[in-house]
Amino acid sequence: MTNKTLPLATHLKDVSQIAYGCMGLGGGWDSNPITDTEITQARNVIETALDAGINIFDHADIYTHTKAEQAFGKVLASSPALRDDMYIQSKCGIRFEDEMGVGRYDFSANWISQSVDGILERLNIEQLDVLLLHRPDPLMELDEVAETLHKIHAAGKVAHFGVSNMSGHQINFLQSALNLPIVANQVEMSLSKLDFFNDVVMVGTEGFNQGDITPGTMEYCRLNNIQIQAWGCLAQGKYSEKGLDSEFENVRLTTQYVMELAAKYQVPSEAIVLAFLLRHPANIQPVIGTTNLERIKASALATTIELTREEWYTLFVRSRGQRMP
Ligand SMILES: NC(=O)c1ccc[n+]([C@@H]2O[C@H](COP(=O)([O-])OP(=O)(O)OC[C@H]3O[C@@H](n4cnc5c(N)ncnc54)[C@H](OP(=O)(O)O)[C@@H]3O)[C@@H](O)[C@H]2O)c1
Repeated sequence: MTNKTLPLATHLKDVSQIAYGCMGLGGGWDSNPITDTEITQARNVIETALDAGINIFDHADIYTHTKAEQAFGKVLASSPALRDDMYIQSKCGIRFEDEMGVGRYDFSANWISQSVDGILERLNIEQLDVLLLHRPDPLMELDEVAETLHKIHAAGKVAHFGVSNMSGHQINFLQSALNLPIVANQVEMSLSKLDFFNDVVMVGTEGFNQGDITPGTMEYCRLNNIQIQAWGCLAQGKYSEKGLDSEFENVRLTTQYVMELAAKYQVPSEAIVLAFLLRHPANIQPVIGTTNLERIKASALATTIELTREEWYTLFVRSRGQRMP
């Protein structure tokens, strides 16, 4: 049973262990206007998540080309009381290819400021609980970003700031100019994306490829009370029944074991996949991206169980496809 205090709860009282990721809302990644179907879907998802005890919703201005935020905002406009029951987080800083240039990242003052205004308008809210900078921009001017975030905060548009896909070094650098704490770092982490765990155990082994992360990011976040949020946490359903037919032995064996644990703990397999993250002492906050209402409920059950050390390691080793060094 998970009952540790989340780092994010320092800033957002009683925030839930599991977050709902809204990337699947709003229909397709196109410029078609949203329809009643997408608004109904958003309402169903919001109500199901809240009923299941999930009270933080993760957006980004780019999701389905702003339509995820639009659909969510329409629900809040017709049921404003829902806002009191939830925390809302969004992200900015990614720009798609347009007439001005290729797909790119943009932490300029203008882009961040106008993005925040657009997010608030689409979501129909006065203030975001958390704004994440979506992906590090190599052209970031440290003082410019800091000044911009301070202004947005002073204007009451954003309560807290965080980052996404950043290394500990990058967060440290940004934090050096900010008078406000960086409260979260959202990174890809799951039973199939093990870099952050491999980082810990592979020290001194030959030929270890550190993958996509900079070692020490997890430790940096933990030392600084920064919430680690895990995107891609359901591994896109890789370890559901279809995993038994995978061409990869490690996926087949992992799926088999996920199912054994699901039977042992009497929970759906989604709960086991998430319990793998919850067992870690960093108190990771998984951000689930399913739009399936039953899977939302199934995911919430992850907080009702705690895997043993041996079960955690069996999942880790099977998914790695390699014994511990
Ligand atoms: N910060 C970043 O750079 C970043 C990047 C990507 C995503 N995110 C955030 O993280 C959230 C989650 O990420 P994600 O959507 O990539 O990962 P996810 O939660 O691992 O996967 C969700 C996808 O997997 C499918 N799925 C999950 N469990 C399944 C199962 N048991 N059987 C069949 N299909 C299953 C879902 O389909 P159904 O809808 O049909 O269940 C959905 O398409 C997003 O919504 C977004 O908020 C952040």
